[in-house]
Amino acid sequence: MTTILAIESSCDETAAAVVVDGRRMRSNVVASQTELHALTGGVVPEVAARQHLRAVVPVVRQALADAECGWDAIDYIAATAGPGLPGALVVGLNAARGIAFARGLPFIAVDHIEGHVCANWLDAGNGADSAVPTLPALALAVSGGHTELLLMEPSGRFRRLGGTRDDAAGEAFDKVARLLGLGYPGGPAISRLAREAGPHKVRLPRAWLRGTDDWSFSGLKTAVQRMAASDDAPPLAQIADAFEESVADVLATKTARAAEREGVSCVLLAGGVAANERLRARMRQRCAVPVFIPPPVLCTDNAAMIGAAAFRHLDQAVSPSMALDVHATLAPHARAASGAFLWGGSPA
Ligand code: KG4
Ligand code: ZN
Repeated sequence: MTTILAIESSCDETAAAVVVDGRRMRSNVVASQTELHALTGGVVPEVAARQHLRAVVPVVRQALADAECGWDAIDYIAATAGPGLPGALVVGLNAARGIAFARGLPFIAVDHIEGHVCANWLDAGNGADSAVPTLPALALAVSGGHTELLLMEPSGRFRRLGGTRDDAAGEAFDKVARLLGLGYPGGPAISRLAREAGPHKVRLPRAWLRGTDDWSFSGLKTAVQRMAASDDAPPLAQIADAFEESVADVLATKTARAAEREGVSCVLLAGGVAANERLRARMRQRCAVPVFIPPPVLCTDNAAMIGAAAFRHLDQAVSPSMALDVHATLAPHARAASGAFLWGGSPA
C-alpha cells in the first residue's frame, strides 16, 4: 500500500489530499479563492499567490485530519509543478518540498494536466461499478488554461494530438460570461443562465478546422459579442444556451472522430470544463467507446488528482533537496528532459 500526500496550487484553489495507491481518496481538501477573484472578475496572480500562502498549512493539516492519519502513514509527498501561475505554483511546491525534507520523504513533481486526466483513476471518479480506464485512451483536458487532446499510449506516455489555437475552452466560457455581464467563474454562470433559455432557434458558428485535431474559440467569442450588441439581440439566456451548445458540439464531435481514428479503448474527459453537464452529455452521445468523466468536484482543481498522477510515477521520485523549478506553460518534452517533470516519462 502506497500513501501519497499531494498538494495543488497552480491557479486559484489551494488543495491537499491523501491518496492510497493512486485510487482511494482518504481525504480531499480544497480551499477555493473564487470569492476573492470574483471581486476582480478574474484571477490576479499575485493575489492568488498570497492567498495560497495563507491557506496552504491549514489545508494540509485538514487533509491529514480528514484522512485520520499521522505523518508516519505518508510514503511520498507530491505537488503540482506546472503548468500554472508561477507565483502560485511556488507556494504549493515549496510547502510540499519543505514537508518532504523535514520528514525525509521522496518528492514527486506532477504535471497539472496529467493530474486532471488521472482523476479518472480515482475511486469516486468512475461510478459505482468502479471500472478503471484501460489504455490506449484518448484524453480531452479542458480547463481554464488548456484545451488539449492527448493520446495516452499503453506505456502511459502521452502524445499530444491537438488543442486550441487561441482561447482555452474554459477561458472562452469565462470571457463570454464577462461579455454577457455574468460572474466569475464563467462556466457555471453560463450553464445556469442557459437553463432558462426555453425553446429557440439561435445558433452560433462552429470552427471545425477540418483535417486537424485543433479547436478555435476566439471567433465564437466575437460572434457572441456581435449578437449581444445587435439591435435584434435575442435574450441573453438564449445566447448563453447557443454558446454552450457550440462549444460542447465541437469538443465532443472532434474528440469522438479522433477516438475512432486512433482505435482507443476509451475516452477520458478531464479539467474544469468537464464539470459542464452539456459537454458530459454530448461526449457520451458522440463517442462509440466508453467515456470516463470524474464527478464535478474532481473535474475542477483538486489535489487527489495530483496524488493519482504521482502514483503512476513513483519511479521518478527525487530527493527534496534536489533543485526543482516550476513551469508556467505546457512544454512536455522540455519538462521531461529536465528530469523533474513527468509527462509520460522520458522525452520522446
Ligand atoms: O481545471 P480548472 O478548475 O482550473 C484550471 O486548471 O484552469 O478549470 C477552471 C475552468 C474555468 O474556466 C471555469 O469557467 C470552467 O473551468 N468551468 C466550467 C464549469 N465549471 C468550471 N466550464 C463550463 N461549465 C462548468 N460547469
Ligand atoms: Zn486545472
